[in-house]
Amino acid sequence: MSGERIERTRILGVGTATPDHVVTNDDLSVVMETSDEWIQQRTGIRERRHIEADCGATELGHRAALEALAAAGLGIEDIDLILFATLSPDIDWPASAALLSARLGVSRIPALDVRNQCSGFLYALASADALIRAGRARHALVVGGEIHSTGLDLTTRGREVGVIFGDGAGAVVLGPSGDPGRGLLSCHLHAQGKYAEKLWLEAAASRKRPRISRADLEGDDPAAFPRMSGRYVFKHAVTRFPEVIHEALAAHGLGVADLDVLIPHQANLRINQFVAQALEIDDAKVVNNIDRYGNTTAASIPIALCEAIADGRVTEGRLVCLAAFGAGFTWASALFRW
Ligand code: COA
Repeated sequence: MSGERIERTRILGVGTATPDHVVTNDDLSVVMETSDEWIQQRTGIRERRHIEADCGATELGHRAALEALAAAGLGIEDIDLILFATLSPDIDWPASAALLSARLGVSRIPALDVRNQCSGFLYALASADALIRAGRARHALVVGGEIHSTGLDLTTRGREVGVIFGDGAGAVVLGPSGDPGRGLLSCHLHAQGKYAEKLWLEAAASRKRPRISRADLEGDDPAAFPRMSGRYVFKHAVTRFPEVIHEALAAHGLGVADLDVLIPHQANLRINQFVAQALEIDDAKVVNNIDRYGNTTAASIPIALCEAIADGRVTEGRLVCLAAFGAGFTWASALFRW
């Protein structure tokens, strides 16, 4: 714990880890009634990654974290806070962040999970930023990691959701900016729990006895798999994304024309195209990679950020906005002067 007040934080390093095993739309057509054409037309997804040998989200998160630490030029001994955003924790409890701390070989530093689905990474980032600026930590590891493939109904019954999600992890190291002109300008977080049932995974549930039953696994619309009112989610997403991006820009007296790079959560290419249109932002400024990974929920933004840094779209001095919308409903944005 640093004790020192820090004005502004900055992302010092990023890393990713995705499974090698690529699952194409044609591969899915073998196990369910779907088609490459349907999936590409509705979602923009061509392929996603699924783990081959079973492992938990922390295994991918660990690999991403090591890459982020190396990119930041820091060692694990420099980290004094771990946040792990996931909707697919290795086990129900204890937290994946605690399991990750064991993998990293650290003891005694705080480690907590953030369970906010597609907005989870931005909620975790905002929390780490606040704790660092309050002097409660100096360098935080913020990880988004998901293993969806072991929890999807990959039959025709579950096809609406099953084709969308993929496995992956991304991580960042957040620390003092050291330059008042650079870093995280602000985060904006929102939630509206009345829409929880529009996109959810209901079982195993503490409000039911037993928490999971045979019917949850075997019924027509089983509660043990993610369920989604796709059109409803879509409509809310295309409204909330522009709203929360405008909110971040307005907080600093900026407008869309000032924005150099927009990195939206990768839920659906059509959602991101609608958002770009509503914002009247040039498509070239919007980072999309859903075609290759599907929706990796809490991992999608750090994976896309890592790629945008690697290909030179995110560089020093650029105004970069990260934005997310997802289950809850929750939505969020984070604005950086990189
Ligand atoms: N392959 C083929 N057909 C499928 C399918 C699949 N993978 N999944 C669903 N269908 C079928 C449905 O059963 C339905 O059939 P019916 O008309 O006989 O009942 C039909 O396709 C629905 O088609 P359509 O109305 O054209 O779908 P859509 O335009 O609403 O698109 C989604 C469906 C899921 C792609 C879209 O609603 C969506 O992307 N929503 C947002 C999802 C999202 O972003 N989730 C994550 C949020 S963070």
